[in-house]
Amino acid sequence: MGIKYPIIQGGMAGVSESILVSAVSNAGGLGVIGSGFAGPEWLDEEIKKTKELTGKPFGVNLLMQNPGSADLATVAIKHKVAAVFTGGGNPLPAMPHLKRAGIKIIPVVPCVRLAQKMEDNGADAVVVEGLESGGHIGESTTMCLVPQARKAIKNIPLIAAGGICDGPTFAAALILGADGVQIGTRFLAAAECQISESYKSAVIGATGEDIVVVARFTGYPVRMIKNKFAENIHKIEKKNPLMEEMKSERFMGNKGGANADLAMLLCGTCAGGIREIKTCREIIEEIAGGAGQSPGSGAKLME
Ligand SMILES: Cc1cc2nc3c(=O)[nH]c(=O)nc-3n(C[C@H](O)[C@H](O)[C@H](O)COP(=O)(O)O)c2cc1C
Repeated sequence: MGIKYPIIQGGMAGVSESILVSAVSNAGGLGVIGSGFAGPEWLDEEIKKTKELTGKPFGVNLLMQNPGSADLATVAIKHKVAAVFTGGGNPLPAMPHLKRAGIKIIPVVPCVRLAQKMEDNGADAVVVEGLESGGHIGESTTMCLVPQARKAIKNIPLIAAGGICDGPTFAAALILGADGVQIGTRFLAAAECQISESYKSAVIGATGEDIVVVARFTGYPVRMIKNKFAENIHKIEKKNPLMEEMKSERFMGNKGGANADLAMLLCGTCAGGIREIKTCREIIEEIAGGAGQSPGSGAKLME
């Protein structure tokens, strides 16, 4: 990719424009224009502006839900951008065109199955995005997704996204098996980021409890900062009749029962990588043995 650090600024619709993108690329990462639901003229202009501000490589993120995404891909091809990242939908129809034009195609996916599918279909790299990320989210955490994806993705670089914002989280992603990282939220609070001052203040003022997920019942959950808008959506969600059913005897009464289809099978995302029943001793010894490779130390806790 011709970058100094394996750090990609994730495409952010309405946020990552020429100034932020060029600043990231000039600093040795890979800036990525977020084209969202914009039209081809906008992208053409933004790429031209970015080229004026940096001679370094940068990418374009295409939102596949945008009905005009094929026209945007044509603009990316015309300008021979270093890479096209795709989010929010199926990138397979666009892949042959981009590849033929010599542009690296890097889909952003929320699960191992899709990561594998992208590798099988010729992606040049793949971003697996955990649910810690800002914006639209999947079901798996970065902590669970990256090692599981590492086992599946053999021949292309694996890029981790979701919750990576500093040295320790970057190092953690590499330890989990990633070749590089994609970062969004941290760049919202970059000096060069063109969001409003009030948005930026909300980002740097937020505590963990202020970051919420809304619109789960639509099937398109979004992670954002809690505000009036988020509260209004929560109010609508609370009226959902499903909430009542979830609380009912039918669901709660069958937790440990034999019928796994009717029970509420509470379970964490790392189950996606657990394949064997083992004894507690085997589990603990395996975990403790693996921890030998980590930079942290358990000594204090064990004292
Ligand atoms: C404001 C915002 C807008 C985003 N827009 C897009 C987008 O248009 N396309 C996309 O694929 N991902 C989008 N993302 C996801 C980012 O590219 C990136 O993968 C994610 O932010 C990484 O997680 P992090 O926020 O914890 O760093 C967006 C994220 C944020 C915070």
